[in-house]
Amino acid sequence: MSTRRIQIFDTTLRDGEQTPGVCLAAAEKLEIAQALARLKVDVIEAGFPFASPGDFAAVRQIAAQVKGPVIAALARANKEDIDLAAQALEGAERRRIHTFIATSDIHLEHKLKMNRFQVLKRAEEAVRYARKFTDDVEFSAEDASRSDRDFLCQVYAAAIAAGATVINIPDTVGYATPEEFGALIRYIREHVPNIDKAVISVHCHDDLGMAVANSLAAVAAGATQVECTVNGLGERAGNAALEELVMALHTRRDFYHVGTGVDTHQIYRTSKLVSTLTGITVPPNKAVVGENAFAHESGIHQHGVLNHASTYEIMSPETIGISRNSIVLGKHSGRHAFEQRLRQLGYELEEKAVTELFARFKDLADRKKIVFDRDIEALIANKASGQPE
Ligand code: KIV
Ligand code: ZN
Repeated sequence: MSTRRIQIFDTTLRDGEQTPGVCLAAAEKLEIAQALARLKVDVIEAGFPFASPGDFAAVRQIAAQVKGPVIAALARANKEDIDLAAQALEGAERRRIHTFIATSDIHLEHKLKMNRFQVLKRAEEAVRYARKFTDDVEFSAEDASRSDRDFLCQVYAAAIAAGATVINIPDTVGYATPEEFGALIRYIREHVPNIDKAVISVHCHDDLGMAVANSLAAVAAGATQVECTVNGLGERAGNAALEELVMALHTRRDFYHVGTGVDTHQIYRTSKLVSTLTGITVPPNKAVVGENAFAHESGIHQHGVLNHASTYEIMSPETIGISRNSIVLGKHSGRHAFEQRLRQLGYELEEKAVTELFARFKDLADRKKIVFDRDIEALIANKASGQPE
């Protein structure tokens, strides 16, 4: 079976920076962009130049200095925004202008105060205008998943006729379900004339915790670009998490039959960098990059993993750039893991001594969430001196 290539469009520096409380300095954005280039994403959305002079400068610097990925800048569907995006991208090896306008009736009525005909014309004009600066133009229909399907298809058709090379389908407010979103992608593929002239992209938010599931459903339905952010940063509950998407496609390539160009070994260090620079900590139980993602606490799991990692690990920590999994000693841990830790710490003890220490360890573990190496050393020292621990 042939492998379809999925483009990874990273928007950590644009939608991700829209995380409440996050504001990155230009130098920090540059550092993250360099890490994204090492990660080998296909596109880096560097910012929204119209948003502030600082963002304009950051996009300009990234465009001039970061080589490899296409550098994209966001612009609303108007000349002023597009002019600024084009200017900021001037130094880029490969540049993309990403222009957007909302298409749902809710947005037309309450935000844009425009009718459908005006929106359609504006989308067309914006794409045509952006094409004057680059032959790589992405068009997004904001709130696509809550838009009238036939109107949405008309807008995409007009955008493609005007020269859009990428058609992005956002689930802007994270409202779609995977089945519904997959069906929407299929509908667009079947009803938009000349859709094969454009890359079909999706952009999912996580309001109901389904951003990654929706993106994967879209891939299964034929989308070839997914937009995402490192650690799932972004407006409100965030965007689809890059590390989860990439590792789902990688780990389940038997199911999706697609590949990405991402160097998965860079995932963990990129996640750490983004967390440090944005100040948004990664929860310990976060898939793929959380501290517990490769940690095993229960005796049954530890025993399995110590015999063969595949018993309880569906991907290896090395694949994402972590040197090894961790066996956490706590009250659920078994003797197998305890004995292994004693050996790692350099203790070769007799059976009887291990049995006695293991009982003391269990007693301590009932009072302490995690038993660290220094606790085990203290247990051994106390046992040697005949003291209670
Ligand atoms: O969520 C959204 O609709 C967006 C667009 C600008 C693509 O971020
Ligand atoms: Zn978004």
